[in-house]
Amino acid sequence: MEITSSPLPRPMIGTQTPPTAIEFPESLQCLFQPKRFKILWGGRGAGRSWGVARALLLKGLQQPLRVLCVREFQNSIGESVHKVLSDQIEALSLSEYYRIEKAKIYGPNGTEFSFEGIKNNTTRIKSYEGIDICWVEEAVKVSKSSWEILIPTIRRENSEIWMTFNPELETDYTYRRFVLQADDSCIVRKMTFEDNPWFPEVLRQEMLRDKERDYDSYLNVWLGHCKVALQGAVYGRELRRAMEENRICKVPYEQSVPVDVFFDLGRADNTAMWFAQRVGMERRLLKYHEANGTSIPIDDLTGGINYFIRYMQGTGYIIGTVFLPHDAKAKRLGSKRSIEEIFRQGGFRVQIVPRLSVTDGINAARIIFPTCWFDEEGCEDGINALRHYRYKVMESIDDNSPKQLSNDPVHDWASDGADAFRYFAVGSKMPRQSADGVLNRLARAADALRGKDVEFSRRGGNNNLGWMG
Ligand SMILES: Nc1ncnc2c1ncn2[C@@H]1O[C@H](COP(=O)(O)OP(=O)(O)OP(=O)(O)O)[C@@H](O)[C@H]1O
Ligand SMILES: [Mg+2]
Repeated sequence: MEITSSPLPRPMIGTQTPPTAIEFPESLQCLFQPKRFKILWGGRGAGRSWGVARALLLKGLQQPLRVLCVREFQNSIGESVHKVLSDQIEALSLSEYYRIEKAKIYGPNGTEFSFEGIKNNTTRIKSYEGIDICWVEEAVKVSKSSWEILIPTIRRENSEIWMTFNPELETDYTYRRFVLQADDSCIVRKMTFEDNPWFPEVLRQEMLRDKERDYDSYLNVWLGHCKVALQGAVYGRELRRAMEENRICKVPYEQSVPVDVFFDLGRADNTAMWFAQRVGMERRLLKYHEANGTSIPIDDLTGGINYFIRYMQGTGYIIGTVFLPHDAKAKRLGSKRSIEEIFRQGGFRVQIVPRLSVTDGINAARIIFPTCWFDEEGCEDGINALRHYRYKVMESIDDNSPKQLSNDPVHDWASDGADAFRYFAVGSKMPRQSADGVLNRLARAADALRGKDVEFSRRGGNNNLGWMG
């Protein structure tokens, strides 16, 4: 089957015509016009992945093209679009022009495809140069901080960023920025299976089944409507109230009040931190930051913790207390000091948040939620994590019974920020240990610099000065 209604640029390989007539859905014609951002979003089975892969392979034959294929998280090459591209090379009989290697694909005249996860690899992403096209798959998962790293990296003259995704919530950053607030730099195409002339029968059957059984899910998965609410959202109600009461807004930093930092420590996962101030009855969440535990290992005394210390210092806030989860007390294998000790020796006042069950932690978070004000810009990625933090949905016994929610939240990318928020809720209720004096802290920092082992006395102890709660 060949679409003849819309003539496409015919690729030339030297003097040869392409081995196969290559076809595209109408909505993908835009891939052949210049534009900085191309946003292809909508329901499943619309032909986006195949279309983008084919367009890139064709362009890579016509001219040397450096393509960077990214997604927010990529733990292995198997999670990337490497497979889609390889399959298309075969389907289009382009094997004699493309060399498929484990981590890269090479084309004629210097065309090259690379594959990366953004979140795990910010330093590597920044080091890419001369990229012509960046394909962001599952772009709806890309966080604001990842976009801030990616976009300036794709800086070659006339370079383009192509994104493909199925939408989730209307509040997701990618959706807001590139669909709701799309400007002249964007071509936006919503696509569903109805735009795909080759929509396969097996997917059609699946689609009809979903339509019959679960209409809301059909609207989201197949027609590309945003979900009204995430099923099992742990803080759905609290966040809705925060929105209604305009507590997600521009929150000013009160210079006379120290800012406390609440950590969730990630080794394999991310380390997440919330920065919060208490001003009157308000808990002001000013900033949220997370960094990957693999590229910035928290246990690595020089690279890891220093990174977080530098980040805290870089905010320009007066830092009050650093709140750490109980596992910060543990000494890691091969390490003389615990994370708690390292922070203390760095001159920080530290409190360990008591260990509570996840359920108790969530309850604590629900209790303090109405007093929380979130800076919409500084906390964008943290709020997003809270929005996506959800209970596991258990399989229903049959199609007619309602779905049950488990008491366990799903452990995924959203849980690091949500865990740190639980520590914030519990920590912010804790009686405050007394300030042990700037001089004392400076002396400890000086000792640390000399490499002395420091004995910590908890002078002052708990004196219930609790500024929070
Ligand atoms: N250009 C094409 N020629 C022939 N078949 C195609 C073409 N594009 C898509 N298809 C068929 O449609 C199916 C769905 O396409 P594709 O996987 O690209 O959709 P998608 O929009 O990326 O969907 P998803 O949201 O599930 O990732 C493919 O598996 C393939 O069978
Ligand atoms: Mg796809």
